[in-house]
Amino acid sequence: MEIAALVAVTLLLGALVGLVALAVGRRKEEKREEIEQTVESSVESSAAKGPTSKKPKQEKQRSRKDKPAQHSFSDPLLASSLKGHSGNVTCLDFSSNGKYLASCADDRTVRIWSTKDFLEREHKCLRANVELDHATLVRFSPDSRAFITWLANGDTIRILKMIKKDDGTFSFKAAPEDFPQKHKAPIINIGIAETGKFIMSASTDTTIHIWDLKGELLASINTNQMTSSYAAVSPCGRFVASCGFTPDVKVWEVCFGKGGEFREVARAFDLKGHSAGVHAFAFSNNSHRMVTVSKDGTWKLWNTDVEYKKQQDPYLLKTVPCSSSEGSRVALSPDGRVVAISNGCNIAMYDAATGNLEKELHGVHSENISDLRFDINSRFLVCSGDKAIRVFHNAPGYQAAIKDMQDMLKKAQNEAMKQRLQQQIKDAQSALDTVLTARIE
Ligand SMILES: *[C@@H]1O[C@H](CO)[C@@H](O)[C@H](O)[C@H]1NC(C)=O
Ligand SMILES: *[C@@H]1O[C@H](CO)[C@@H](O)[C@H](O)[C@H]1NC(C)=O
Repeated sequence: MEIAALVAVTLLLGALVGLVALAVGRRKEEKREEIEQTVESSVESSAAKGPTSKKPKQEKQRSRKDKPAQHSFSDPLLASSLKGHSGNVTCLDFSSNGKYLASCADDRTVRIWSTKDFLEREHKCLRANVELDHATLVRFSPDSRAFITWLANGDTIRILKMIKKDDGTFSFKAAPEDFPQKHKAPIINIGIAETGKFIMSASTDTTIHIWDLKGELLASINTNQMTSSYAAVSPCGRFVASCGFTPDVKVWEVCFGKGGEFREVARAFDLKGHSAGVHAFAFSNNSHRMVTVSKDGTWKLWNTDVEYKKQQDPYLLKTVPCSSSEGSRVALSPDGRVVAISNGCNIAMYDAATGNLEKELHGVHSENISDLRFDINSRFLVCSGDKAIRVFHNAPGYQAAIKDMQDMLKKAQNEAMKQRLQQQIKDAQSALDTVLTARIE
């Protein structure tokens, strides 16, 4: 058991050290390439001319653009700022293969960034125009070759496919039809299951719709939480969860038969323990842990690796005081080691195991933080708020990984293993030091 865990951590850190070395090496090469490919740009310019049906949204968009663009922010953990959007970024999503980060903004574009460029000077991105509308939410499909968007004016879901052309460049093509309009209140989130079996959309009026990939409605849920503040599909693709005015987080399983046919949405388990409404929650990548942030002034970490069908309930691992407000977001690093919480324009990073506050970032964006996510390798934390996307080194995650190895070192029985661990701790520490000192102003 201990050995298995050790091997896992060893592998993970080996990969981490390798990646850091690679990234630092590559950055020195100073290669500059054409940084952006414009796709279907004619549509964008013609669409930008005439205001369409919904006036208020259009005006809001314009007045934001008129604001002075520069908001200065610096921090030793800031790895880079991804610039390109000319409107405020509202949503971020990493593809499950880890290669891309998608962002959308009210500038009518979705941009696809390459994660391997995060530490470079230039950040290449692909641009997909959202015709006659703009996307407020974006989520990658499981195969990373398509994404779903929520249309601000269309009030529905549009699927866009990435098509690799013969010359190696990409273009984007919308599915022939958008989903039917079904929500009667503002949308809070959309998601697509990693299994590729369903799409979820949720609105503030406690409605969650479950769709198949063609836009057929499979089921609708009323969460009975008075109002909804957040909902999401778990990274494993089995669950849909929701929170809002009531102090609980409700989790459902979306069930399919052996032949892949939809069966039902069944209540799985609840997270009960907060004493006020819940702003948001997040899953670890295997859905064995969840973290919640509440109006009661705390975040809570839960063990959700339970057999709920045998009446086992998830249990509370930790309660930690924190600042939060309406619109706060929470992210849990995929390895479960770090919790990040946004509050207005600020972010706090906590060690999930100890609950210690490891890092505070103030005034990260000029406007409230709209999204907050870790990359799939737990190396970076990214967030949006204004036009720029901030990418931070997950130093608290590296430190927690080092601490885990130090604990193993104390328990290690044989000399060979001890030496190995000592070397790995040294390597990880120097990789971390390199990350923190090698950054470019
Ligand atoms: C979750 O993350 C861990 C550590 O980063 C990784 O080893 C594992 O493969 C991931 N699992 C899934 C289901 O993505
Ligand atoms: C921004 O965050 C603050 C809390 O820090 C909150 O009071 C305010 O309502 C938020 N503004 C918007 C527009 O959501």
